[in-house]
Amino acid sequence: MKNLKKCLEREYKEIGLFLSKRCNYNCPYCSTNMNISKKELDNEDYKKILDSCKDLGVKCIIICGAGEPLLDQNLFEIIKIARSYGISVNITTNGYYLERKTIEFLYENRVSLCVKLHSLNEERYLQLSRIRKGPKWVNYNYSNKIIKLPSFLVDLLKSNYFTRSNKDEFYFPPICIETVITRINYYEIPALANLAKLLKIQFFVEPLILINNAELNKKDLVVSENKLNKLFYRLLWIQGLNFFLGEVFHKCMMQKNFLITNYGDVSNCITALRTFGNIKDDPLKDILRRMKPPKFHCHLGFRRCPTRYYIYNELKKN
Ligand SMILES: C[S@@+](CC[C@H](N)C(=O)[O-])C[C@H]1O[C@@H](n2cnc3c(N)ncnc32)[C@H](O)[C@@H]1O
Ligand code: SF4
Repeated sequence: MKNLKKCLEREYKEIGLFLSKRCNYNCPYCSTNMNISKKELDNEDYKKILDSCKDLGVKCIIICGAGEPLLDQNLFEIIKIARSYGISVNITTNGYYLERKTIEFLYENRVSLCVKLHSLNEERYLQLSRIRKGPKWVNYNYSNKIIKLPSFLVDLLKSNYFTRSNKDEFYFPPICIETVITRINYYEIPALANLAKLLKIQFFVEPLILINNAELNKKDLVVSENKLNKLFYRLLWIQGLNFFLGEVFHKCMMQKNFLITNYGDVSNCITALRTFGNIKDDPLKDILRRMKPPKFHCHLGFRRCPTRYYIYNELKKN
C-alpha cells in the first residue's frame, strides 16, 4: 500500500470528513441540508476510510460538517484510530458539548478545534443558534478585564489547550474562533476579532454561503457588499497582515484534497458537493483517479470561491 500515493501521483495531506447531520442547534444561516435521506456512514465505514487515509499518507482529517460532530459517537473512535495511525484531527464545533472531560480527551489526542462564536451577546447568540436553552454564560477575568462568555469557552480557556499548549504538537493552531458574517452579528464581529486577539486565539470569519437555511432566511442575513468591504478593512486593521494573507491568498482546502460526506460520497467541494463516487460502491483510489480539483481562486477581500460567488449575484438581483 506504500505505493498507493505514487500510483495516484498526488499527495492528499488534509481531507474533509462529514459526520452525522444531527445537530442540537438550528442556526438560521446553516448551510447543511438537515434531511437525512439515506443511511449515513457507520463505524465500520469510518474505519475503512481511516485505513485508506493511512495508505494515502493523509496528515490531517478535517471534520468540518455536516451536523454537530460532538453529537456523533463515531467521533471518539475516529480520533483514537486516527491518532494511532499518526493522523491529526481537526473539528469544527458549535461548542455546546465541550465539557471538561471532552476537552481533556480532545487535548490528549491533540485535536485542533475551530469553535464557533457568533456573538458576545447572549440574546443574539440564541437568535443565531435558534435553541431555546443555550449554554450557560459566565464571567471570565482576563488581563483585568471581565468578559461574559459561554461556559464552554471559559472551560476551554482554563484547559490545557491554554495552560500548556505546545503548538508544534498540533497540525493546525490548537484553537481558532470562527464566526459567520450575517446581518444579525455584523456590528459585533470587530469585537469578536478583538477578543480573539486579546486571548491570542486565531480568528476566522466565514462569508455566508446561501444554501439551505441561509437561503430560506437570506432577507434577515445577507450583508451588502459595501458593508462586507468595510468589515474586511476593519478586520485587517485589528488582525493585521496574517488576516490579509489568510483571506486573500487562502487556497481552498479542496484544491489538493477531497471530502467524504456522511453518505460516503467523495467530492471536491464542501458546498457544491459534486460527487465522483461513493466509498460503498468503489475503492477510494479509483474514485480519486477520476476526481478533478476545483479551480484556484484569489480575490481582494473575504474568501470568495466560485460557489460563494452566487451570494453577490443574488445581491445584484435584489
Ligand atoms: C455545517 S457546520 C458543522 C459544524 C458545527 N455544527 C458548527 O456549526 O460549527 C460547518 C461549518 O460551516 C459553517 N457554516 C454553516 N452554515 C454556513 C453558511 N451558510 N455560510 C458559511 N458558513 C457556514 C459553520 O459556521 C461551521 O464553521
Ligand atoms: S451551523 Fe452547525 S451548529 Fe448550526 S445548525 Fe448547522 S450544523 Fe448545527
